[in-house]
Amino acid sequence: MKIVNSWNDFDPLKHVIVGRADNCCISPSEPASKAKVPLDSPMRGMTGPRPLATVEKANEQLEGLVKLLESRGVKVDRPDALQWNQAVVTPHFMIGSMFGCMPPRDVLLTIGSDIISAPMSFRSRYFEFYAYSRIQREYFDKDPSFRWIAAPRPELSDASYDMHYFDDEVTEEILLERTAKLHMVTKEHEILFDAADVLRLGKDLFVQHGLTTNRKGMEWLRRMYPDMRVHAVNFPGDPYPIHIDATFVPLRPGLILNNPVRKLPKEQRKIFEANGWEIVDAAQPAHSQPPELCYSSVWLSMNCLVLDHKTVIVEASETAQQEQMDKLGMNVIPLPFRDAYAFGGGLHCATADVYREGVCQDYFPHQVEDPTLVSFQEK
Ligand code: NVA
Repeated sequence: MKIVNSWNDFDPLKHVIVGRADNCCISPSEPASKAKVPLDSPMRGMTGPRPLATVEKANEQLEGLVKLLESRGVKVDRPDALQWNQAVVTPHFMIGSMFGCMPPRDVLLTIGSDIISAPMSFRSRYFEFYAYSRIQREYFDKDPSFRWIAAPRPELSDASYDMHYFDDEVTEEILLERTAKLHMVTKEHEILFDAADVLRLGKDLFVQHGLTTNRKGMEWLRRMYPDMRVHAVNFPGDPYPIHIDATFVPLRPGLILNNPVRKLPKEQRKIFEANGWEIVDAAQPAHSQPPELCYSSVWLSMNCLVLDHKTVIVEASETAQQEQMDKLGMNVIPLPFRDAYAFGGGLHCATADVYREGVCQDYFPHQVEDPTLVSFQEK
């Protein structure tokens, strides 16, 4: 029985994993995660399990998502929450707690019949893939074509990070300059990527070079998938470039929303323009601040879950985003989800594809001189 198949974010969704908020922790500060907690956030320095009342509210909204998906005929699997409040000790680092399993999208990268557990760049997220083992064992037992792949386990020693990246004198202005120059907290010591930095468009993977994904991570993907094209993209304007799905979000073949304060640079647009893709500025978010104790930005407004080429689930309070998508020809299903944001993101983050109809298509048959294309560079 074929269980795993997904080549993009918009073909008809039939089977998906939806995360859980149980036991989720605010993990201790670490070289990479200082990046995730904005400088002015009250979460800086906080650590430990999240308040139970907030866990329950988040789980209610996650249940709401499950019910909606099931009512539309989508099969849903759920992870097993670990006791995330346990310390992680490896030969290379120690950290006081883990994080959670609300955002499977960060960890699991589905490419065709493969599901790859990403290395993950945060020490606190090193063992998060275990939350999905039972589900993947089941796929493995039932689906002879499912390939269960783990990317090389990173060391995450101090050598992986620029340990002075977030020194006290850093400002948002400095971070903006650095990220525009591709100077990130993660170095090129080893293969690093988070699954949510990879945008899948059939034969082409567009990978955000940011705080959680480096060039070696892209090179690993290129070697794993020699028949595909791996592109390195980046979005100046984002001081915390982590995960591509509140920045560059496809709605259907030929149409992508781009965060208007994190625009894809001109030269990186060529491949889209040459193939008739429209890149549209996303609508303004409804909120000026993220919810309390949330790592992510207000741009979770565009972090939607596309069910098919005409249908999309959008957070209920994001009316401008809904209207824009409606005008772009999508049927919008609003769903309350803000209570789940603090646990690791929006509707796209909270899910990971298992099965979408369709095959690997070439959406970019016109190859132009493309500065984003990743190729091996001998050192
Ligand atoms: N760094 C992103 C997270 C996207 C899910 C943001 O907060 O905008």
